[in-house]
Amino acid sequence: MTVKDKNILIGITGGIAAYKICELIRMFKKNGANVKTVVTKNALEFVTPLTLQTLSQEAVYTEQFVTEDRKPEHIALCDWADIFVIAPASANTIGKIANGICDNLLTSLACAYQKQIIFAPAMNTGMWNNKAVRQNISFLKSTGAVFVEPESGYLACGTEGKGRLADINSIYEAAYNCISNNEFLKGKKIVITAGGTKENFDPVRYIGNYSSGKMGTALADRAFEAGADVCLIKTFPLERSYSTIDVQSAAQMLDAVKQEFADADILIMTAAVADYRPEKTADLKLKKDTTEELVLKLVKNPDILSEMCKIKKEGQTVIGFCAESNNLLEYAKQKIQKKNCDYIIANDISRKDTGFSSDYNEVFILDRDLNIKKLEKDTKNNIAKKILESIWQKPAI
Ligand code: CTP
Repeated sequence: MTVKDKNILIGITGGIAAYKICELIRMFKKNGANVKTVVTKNALEFVTPLTLQTLSQEAVYTEQFVTEDRKPEHIALCDWADIFVIAPASANTIGKIANGICDNLLTSLACAYQKQIIFAPAMNTGMWNNKAVRQNISFLKSTGAVFVEPESGYLACGTEGKGRLADINSIYEAAYNCISNNEFLKGKKIVITAGGTKENFDPVRYIGNYSSGKMGTALADRAFEAGADVCLIKTFPLERSYSTIDVQSAAQMLDAVKQEFADADILIMTAAVADYRPEKTADLKLKKDTTEELVLKLVKNPDILSEMCKIKKEGQTVIGFCAESNNLLEYAKQKIQKKNCDYIIANDISRKDTGFSSDYNEVFILDRDLNIKKLEKDTKNNIAKKILESIWQKPAI
């Protein structure tokens, strides 16, 4: 399946990232798609109609009340488009669409459009974090809209933070996936754990680790896009339109995993589960005046992955992660055998450019027969997609 001969409608709103959409149009055209663009007045401050027209080889739509084929223009374009990609999507346009406001051609189209809309937001970090914007996004996600999350980094307004338009490849891929209806996990329930557990030793202090949860989140997002019924068990705040469960400690994670895995097809243990927890948790905050030294006795936590592999039923697939700072493949081989899981995804956490906290990863997939497949360094989003595809779409490794 390709985008060849598919009709892509691209909505461009006013923001500096608008210039990047020229590249997106070029990618779709290069791959054989038909592209039409609809732009807001503000977008025209950043890109010219001539550029868009030249790249798309189509007229650029700006006015709400011009007609084509005697149909009101928004209806004609709605019928034509196989998919509607709004990029960059400003806070203003997202807000208007979430509230059914139709004050220009782009928002009118979004209101009338009944197929898949993909939003690729780009805005200042403060706007991205604004409660009204969060609520609008959350509502649109609940209606089935796909969001290609912005990235963190240097923003055109001179600040650092989340809000930079996602990589053009990711926007292209999101559209490609929707178009190709690549729902290879449809009908499957997948449970994914993400983040590092926190093991309290008093009500306000804990032993934890640096896991960011990015890999687990990327896997959950991609599994959702692939049609799975996703349950993400996580140790950090995150809003998603699929099911999420918040836990803190390994014990809480074990309970949640046990419960959710019972009727699941797949379990992916991405979480960095603390191997040990303080033997005792004080009921009250420890006071430093009471002792010069604080000695914590740690006891072993249950190994959730091993426990689940013991009770796993025919047809259930369990995947573990293996984070190592040395002898990666050797330890990975030992772990798949010791824990008895179906696959292990091994990654080297000693590298600064991949692994913990990074947006990138490079991993090896090992199966029970110890076949190894390397996935070269890529964004965690792409690695997540490739892991799922390697295991479920193509013949195993
Ligand atoms: N894991 C788990 N429960 C634990 C510890 C780890 O379910 N108490 C899971 C992790 O989610 C991961 C896999 O086991 O999928 C391997 O985790 P890792 O930290 O690499 O290995 P450990 O088993 O903890 O062994 P070690 O820390 O000695 O390398």
